[in-house]
Amino acid sequence: MMGRLPFIAGNWKMNKTVGEALDLVRQLKASISKVEGVEVAVAPPFTALYAVQKELEGTTIKLAAQNLFYEEKGAYTGEISPMMLKEIGCHYVIIGHSERRQFFGETDETVNRRIEAALGQGLKVIFCIGETLKEREEGRTFAVVERQVERGLRKFREMEVKGIVIAYEPVWAIGTGKTATPEQAEEVHRFIRGRLEKLYSREIAEGIRIQYGGSVTPENIKGLMSLENIDGALVGGASLKAETFSKIVRFKEM
Ligand code: 13P
Repeated sequence: MMGRLPFIAGNWKMNKTVGEALDLVRQLKASISKVEGVEVAVAPPFTALYAVQKELEGTTIKLAAQNLFYEEKGAYTGEISPMMLKEIGCHYVIIGHSERRQFFGETDETVNRRIEAALGQGLKVIFCIGETLKEREEGRTFAVVERQVERGLRKFREMEVKGIVIAYEPVWAIGTGKTATPEQAEEVHRFIRGRLEKLYSREIAEGIRIQYGGSVTPENIKGLMSLENIDGALVGGASLKAETFSKIVRFKEM
């Protein structure tokens, strides 16, 4: 197996004013900037991106945005373009988060267009997928995840897919305190990697990192990261405090 660098990202969602964001990032710099063997990113809300980027300069912590719009520019009130994110130093952008699919009408097709626009601007993508509780209970987890992967990545060639990280976030585990068991997560991660192999190649599938997201905590990170196909975590609630996020980033030391 190719060594995939573990990747822990904090999705702050709609939390933190600029002042609060800077406080958190200063604490993170103090506690995790020297950690090796793990890639780390934080995704503040749009309003704090610029200030956080300034604060992160010279560190290895990367900046991520939580969304973008796929058009280059124009009359799209309230939207943010890929170039705007690139210009202020974003490295990653989260696309297709279940909250966007659930509350803001995002579909597999709009996710696909957003990924294309992000990659076109040289941004790396954290592409989110995952089934709802109802879909899991109806035994449709694999079918849903397969559809999301195939449609979300439609048209992309191997070169492009290399710039993507997949985040498997079962919707029923997000913000509920109900983490998928490591076995439940590993089963879906293995399935996703298998689909990537069919769509692309073994080499590509082995190289793509698949994060798990959904109630990740310092208590459960180690168990999740011990599995072969779990390459990192997309952390919501526990990324809002330096203490818990740092512990997650330092999972190897636990
Ligand atoms: P929680 O860690 O709060 O469950 O959120 C997960 C998530 O949605 C990260 O994108």
